[in-house]
Amino acid sequence: MAQKNYDAQVDSLMQLMTLEEKVGQMNQYNGFYDVTGPAPTGGNAAVKYEHLRKGWVGAMLSVRGVEEVHKLQKLVVEESRLGIPLLFGFDVIHGYKTLSPIPLAEAASWDLKAIEQSASIAANEASAVGLNWTFAPMVDISRDARWGRVMEGAGEDPYLGSKIATARVRGFQGSDLSAPNTIAATAKHFAAYGFVEGGIEYGIVDIGTHTLYNQVLPPFQAAVDADVKSVMNGFNLLNGVPVTGNAFLQREMLKGKMNFQGFVVSDWASTQEMVAHGFAADEKDAALKASIAGSDMEMESGTYVAHLAALVREGKVDEAVIDEAVRRILKVKFELGLFEDPYRYCDLEREKERIYHADHQAGVRDMARRSMVLLKNEGELLPLGKKQKNILVVGAMAKDKNSPLGSWRIASDDNSAVSVWEGLSAQNPYLKYIKGPEYFDPEVAFVQEVKVNEDDLSGLEEAVAAAKEADVVVLVAGEHGFQSGEARSRAEIGLPGIQPQLIRALHKANSNMVLLLFNGRPLTLSWEAENIPAILECWQPGSQAGNAVADVVFGDYNPAGKLPMTFPRNLGQVPIYYNQYNGSRPDPQPIVFWSHYMDSEKSPLFPFGYGLSYSEFAYSDLKVDASNPKAVQVEVVLENKGKRAGEEVAQLYVRDLVANQVRPIKELKGFEKVYLQAGASVLLRFTLTGRELGYFDHQYKWVVEPGEFEVMVGGNSVNVLKERFVLD
Ligand code: NOJ
Repeated sequence: MAQKNYDAQVDSLMQLMTLEEKVGQMNQYNGFYDVTGPAPTGGNAAVKYEHLRKGWVGAMLSVRGVEEVHKLQKLVVEESRLGIPLLFGFDVIHGYKTLSPIPLAEAASWDLKAIEQSASIAANEASAVGLNWTFAPMVDISRDARWGRVMEGAGEDPYLGSKIATARVRGFQGSDLSAPNTIAATAKHFAAYGFVEGGIEYGIVDIGTHTLYNQVLPPFQAAVDADVKSVMNGFNLLNGVPVTGNAFLQREMLKGKMNFQGFVVSDWASTQEMVAHGFAADEKDAALKASIAGSDMEMESGTYVAHLAALVREGKVDEAVIDEAVRRILKVKFELGLFEDPYRYCDLEREKERIYHADHQAGVRDMARRSMVLLKNEGELLPLGKKQKNILVVGAMAKDKNSPLGSWRIASDDNSAVSVWEGLSAQNPYLKYIKGPEYFDPEVAFVQEVKVNEDDLSGLEEAVAAAKEADVVVLVAGEHGFQSGEARSRAEIGLPGIQPQLIRALHKANSNMVLLLFNGRPLTLSWEAENIPAILECWQPGSQAGNAVADVVFGDYNPAGKLPMTFPRNLGQVPIYYNQYNGSRPDPQPIVFWSHYMDSEKSPLFPFGYGLSYSEFAYSDLKVDASNPKAVQVEVVLENKGKRAGEEVAQLYVRDLVANQVRPIKELKGFEKVYLQAGASVLLRFTLTGRELGYFDHQYKWVVEPGEFEVMVGGNSVNVLKERFVLD
């Protein structure tokens, strides 16, 4: 649906506004101190209420629930001079109360329809509790699994990341933003936050325009093209300038070349934190620098509301800067329909009806099954039988009803996930369970460090004894739900604590093992990959975790997920990503002078795009026709050689062999998820145009260079068929 133009309404409203009221629209306050970020130091509830009454607040975050939202909206609409309704924002990252899998997991489905649907379920539930704005999707590309927030993005690839960004924005915003079940989305964090050095949070990014333009910005552009209503900047420095105060990024790129029409919101206190970075002298200077740089709304730190009006009066900030920001913010409020009905999202009946709705549960269960990646399945150990006896489930995590929800579970009720044990035992009544050692201290809060059990092996002996008697051992292992997410960087990315000891001991007792993995980032699993016959990557699958796992483990669902991030063999390989450059000496030499590690292979453990199925897929007959350089045709035959129907994600990669800016050895430029009956085959066709064959040069100009290209097609980024063609 074409968006209505509200310019005239915005203009006439702005004529009525004082400078303070305009600045007020640029101010966002947090409702409660129970979420992320340091506690507000200056602000307090009384001041916030006073500012709300004066019309000095444009948006609230983390106020939720129809009653609460209604109360605050009423206060502002009825008591402030102009009654401009508030935006109510919240981190609806992969659901509100009903949670779908973490975003990285969803990306592993490569299923754009399902991802869009998942975001629309989230919007449906969030809008029912009075919210009208989410701080999602996170579209940061990252190649570093040490960084905890890889769980919140779509992985390492800008092409897949762009498609998913579009799907998520569409899912949240729908085709009519003013509908009561859609909410405004936020693409974040602008920009390059995923490239923090060493995977350390709130830190430093130093990358060139080549990476910025070709890796980092494309998913943001996709979100902008999908009409995303807001973009959040971030905490990081980019090449010496905090992104919140970065005019090049926000003005020249985002609002200029990328044609973004919505508004920019800062990250939590990221304006104020420019002082700590050493970029702003004090809070006033921070307000000046952030606003001039194009950061339209400030989240929580209050420097705008404290200083911006004075800065305008002192002639240090042009009032046009304020006007532009306010215009962008008000436009979104009009588009959401808030001026027609400020209580549009405040229907108590709908709230009761929508929370944890059965349709939502069914949707997230399906999304969770689609997200799982079968990493190994020697001797077709999986699927297990629903009537199979003598299967032993081991692991404290099997009965954990929180960890499967991941770290962004602020609205979801404690213990609201279906545990792995509940899901598995509902489908096979003969299963046995033994807990074994604790993995973590169960008393853990969102804002505290997770306490990992590093040495207490109580329960191990019992588990080993039981494993000896079992036919199959199913070990549930992985990271605590709070071990990934914001500020959850890890310097080691193996299975935490005593888990490696547990897994080795169990394996010694009974090597017929299935490993069910729950984690928010790629892990180093070399020993496990070598020794454990079946491994299923379940990620953090959300509210319906156990049921979805059971669907895959017992074969009601044939797994089809593919990794959106490379799994390294060891930490020394990180950052590792499939779209690397060739370098000058890529191949093994009899002498040492070539690109390699002396003590490790340089190939990944599991490459980008990798994932098995209970079926077996084969590719053949790759053909390329480049007679029309504007639309190069690629064909390939895909066959299901297995005994079961299944889905495969056919992936197409391209390499420009010689270019003025060297191109990676392969770049994903197309994919198709296909369902095939056993024994069936299909001819797949892809078209490559200038959009797929070019790149951004250092001037952000899209260039397509004639010459020789390689096309690669396969079921992951390594095992591919190859053909070459010349682009005239
Ligand atoms: C900080 C995070 O970086 C951001 O992504 C989030 O939306 C805000 N906190 C609000 O919770």
